[in-house]
Amino acid sequence: MAKLGVNVDHIATIRQARGVTEPDPVAAAMLAELAGAHGITVHLREDRRHIQDRDVEILRKTLQTRLNLEMALTDEMIAFALKVLPDAVTLVPEGRHELTTEGGLDVNMLRATLTQKIVLLKQAGIVVSLFVEPDLEQIKASHKVGADYIEIHTGTYCEMRTEADKREQLQRIELAISAARKLGLGVNAGHGLNYQNVEPVVALKGIEEFNIGHSIVSRASLVGMERAVREMLTLLQG
Ligand code: PXP
Repeated sequence: MAKLGVNVDHIATIRQARGVTEPDPVAAAMLAELAGAHGITVHLREDRRHIQDRDVEILRKTLQTRLNLEMALTDEMIAFALKVLPDAVTLVPEGRHELTTEGGLDVNMLRATLTQKIVLLKQAGIVVSLFVEPDLEQIKASHKVGADYIEIHTGTYCEMRTEADKREQLQRIELAISAARKLGLGVNAGHGLNYQNVEPVVALKGIEEFNIGHSIVSRASLVGMERAVREMLTLLQG
């Protein structure tokens, strides 16, 4: 069965909407773990719009599973990761005006910096994943710069409305999984996945972990975090 990493960023979004201390993403992470999540993901954005440094620091000390820190490739974030030592770092492109991460990294363009920073992270014992489009060039480049994993950006698939378009995007993802695995890269996936669209991606096989946030937090706001996580785990059983 594929693993589930629950992204609790949007619990923090609700907290930041009022600038108070609740709801606490750390509490949400604990409930997600109790329901069987295999890991917790948070994105510490440069503008700190949702997750705060303190959230990551407390999660590092309290999680029973794994902490995956999503972050931009900046000196500030690399220094933060080397201080907090999450189990994994997922490097993502970040735009200040975007509502959410809009695309994958251009690994070739960032080749020199990525190679250098990935060495630093790996030397500190951190597993490094690169968030990329299901594109063969990006996957080959991810291997070249020394990443351990890729996380396939599933956003385009999730936006497709016709069955034919969805099938085409699923085929792209399937090719990406097989190319990455042949190169020895681990494969995760995420972005835009929900209770309606995740099953065909699970059926492709070969994805180790799904990182899912907005849909789980949305459902949790109505039915509770534990039930929301359990229902997603059932879908990941394939
Ligand atoms: N994976 C990555 C790399 C992301 O940037 C995000 C969004 O923060 C997710 C997964 C989760 O996406 P969603 O909130 O749409 O499930």
